[in-house]
Amino acid sequence: MHSIKQLLLVGATIVLGTALQAADAPATKLTIDLRSTSKQISPDLFGIFFEDLNYAADGGLYAELIQNRSFEYQATEQPDWNPLSFWELTQRGGGKGGWFVGAVDPVHANNPHYLILDIRNAGDGVGLINPGFDGIPVKAGEIYDFSVFARLLDEKRPPMPMIARLESRNGEVLGEASLQIAGLEWKRAAAEITAARSDDAARFVLLAKDGGRVALDELSLFPRHTFHDRPNGLRADLAQTIADLHPKFVRFPGGCLTHGDGVENIYRWKNSIGPIEQRKGQANIWRYHQSVGLGYFEYFQFCEDIGAKPLPVLAAGVSCQNSDRKRGTGQQCVPMEDMPAYIQDVLDLIEWANGPATSKWGAKRAEAGHPAPFHLEYLGIGNEDHITPGFKERFAMIYNAVKAKHPEITVVGTVGPSPDGFDFSEGWKVANESKVPIVDEHYYEPPQWFLSHFNRYDTYDRNHSKVYVGEYASRGNQLFNAIAEAAYMTQLERNGDIVHMASYAPLLAKVGHTQWNPDLIYFNNTKVAPTINYCVQKLFAENSGDTYYQTLLDNSGDHLAASTVRDSKSGDLILKVVNSDTTSKALSIHLNGGSKPGTATKTVLTGDLNAVNTFDTTNPVLPETSPITVGTSFDYQAPPNSLTVIRIKR
Ligand code: AHR
Repeated sequence: MHSIKQLLLVGATIVLGTALQAADAPATKLTIDLRSTSKQISPDLFGIFFEDLNYAADGGLYAELIQNRSFEYQATEQPDWNPLSFWELTQRGGGKGGWFVGAVDPVHANNPHYLILDIRNAGDGVGLINPGFDGIPVKAGEIYDFSVFARLLDEKRPPMPMIARLESRNGEVLGEASLQIAGLEWKRAAAEITAARSDDAARFVLLAKDGGRVALDELSLFPRHTFHDRPNGLRADLAQTIADLHPKFVRFPGGCLTHGDGVENIYRWKNSIGPIEQRKGQANIWRYHQSVGLGYFEYFQFCEDIGAKPLPVLAAGVSCQNSDRKRGTGQQCVPMEDMPAYIQDVLDLIEWANGPATSKWGAKRAEAGHPAPFHLEYLGIGNEDHITPGFKERFAMIYNAVKAKHPEITVVGTVGPSPDGFDFSEGWKVANESKVPIVDEHYYEPPQWFLSHFNRYDTYDRNHSKVYVGEYASRGNQLFNAIAEAAYMTQLERNGDIVHMASYAPLLAKVGHTQWNPDLIYFNNTKVAPTINYCVQKLFAENSGDTYYQTLLDNSGDHLAASTVRDSKSGDLILKVVNSDTTSKALSIHLNGGSKPGTATKTVLTGDLNAVNTFDTTNPVLPETSPITVGTSFDYQAPPNSLTVIRIKR
């Protein structure tokens, strides 16, 4: 444990001063003490925060290609939405028919609406068109799996022949397959379509080829190839971009989406598991529809696939303080009489994730294809809530129940939406009184805030709760933002004994559908554009360690920040240097103690202060790696606006 005096000294790694021209400036001495001042830091420091915001899930990471597949869009999501939104009736080659929404005897009570197609004259086909989410991206040679729940509505008739087709907007057929709908009970029918041609914005068409009435629901189209080829899986390129961050944990499903727009809109994990036709979609607090096709099973599976620990966050029995803005109801509380059931849901999640396949909830995980436990360690309770009496009471009830039944679970509490202020201090009071193991701090601030709060955690009391910086961003995607975040992240490493986890927010944004900017990764249906901020997150995660060494910059260290860690798996020593100035900085680096260093590489991220990486950037700012000669003392010139990672082999 470090004394406050030591910590202040360790914290003194940035001095904001007047920029000197490199030529005039004496070298800044950077000393890494490899002898006695090392400390263990969190092995789970850098992770990610996923929220279905900006069409991150439906239309984004979740690989479903049909929009409004279960006819559940509603005007509460968008004023002009209804169950038929994004569907079109098509009557081809003399075909005649109509359509309407059915609600009697649905596939499942959680999915109450379906579509009835009434074909009077089949002609060349009567059916439905769906444009997907801004078009359906189709690749020549790829297989697409179509499925539908259907039943015939006329007794004593032969099976209804249908065609499932991918076609371009001008009607060119890209691929198609036949299927038959038979019987008066809901049944799943499926067909496999192989695309003969590519099209970035195709549409899906389902055509009935005979007269009669048929009920249809849960029309689904997936590329066969998803991330790790999981059924009901994730878009491979986007998931891979996330996996490339090598996150140690994934926090999900939000954010404000978790505590929801009023009590009725709180995200209920149980509604998000099981067969997709039985899941209960709902309006998302960001005002679009969440199908929960990407639900708790898929989140946990994704974590496992990318080697990250799951960090699910459940509402603390209260809704978002921004609930129902029009009426201004603000935070709403789960009624006290409903709290026992609410708490049981929380406990059931732990059993679902970790219980044996023979347990009630573990069996549901096994039924979904995962008999082995998911090894849940962390559980978030609450998301940046206002720390009201209603919150305090409910948080304590949930926290105490989890602690009593599952002492093995590390609970992550919450301290409001800002880095200071009333909720922050009240939240910390709750955490200290109840000895909550970790609390979640959030801040979205300008880059200068990040540069000037470089020592925020140096003086945090080591005997209090640990910190999860669950959401932070410097309000921009320019190189300068990324560099400010990098400088700040050196203090997260330096204080990795108390800062247990950190995640940039938000993670994903579909261009044209953003409710929140800036974000870490932008995408459309065919392209992914990681930002420069992403490069910083990736460099820190790929070069994280579990031991921190005191890293001191002498007084001339203006606009510089640095940290040094060792990764015990590889044995490598990793130095990160951030120069947030517009001039380069000469550094004289000294490794005090330890044996003669081995070979090393340097990876440098630098460029124009205002640079941003988008789809259209011709010369994106990307890290470049090259060899560097190091010794117990060596010189380094840190470029202007740069993050440098020097990785020294054991
Ligand atoms: O990250 C976007 C939003 O910011 C989150 O949903 C919320 O927790 C915060 O206000």
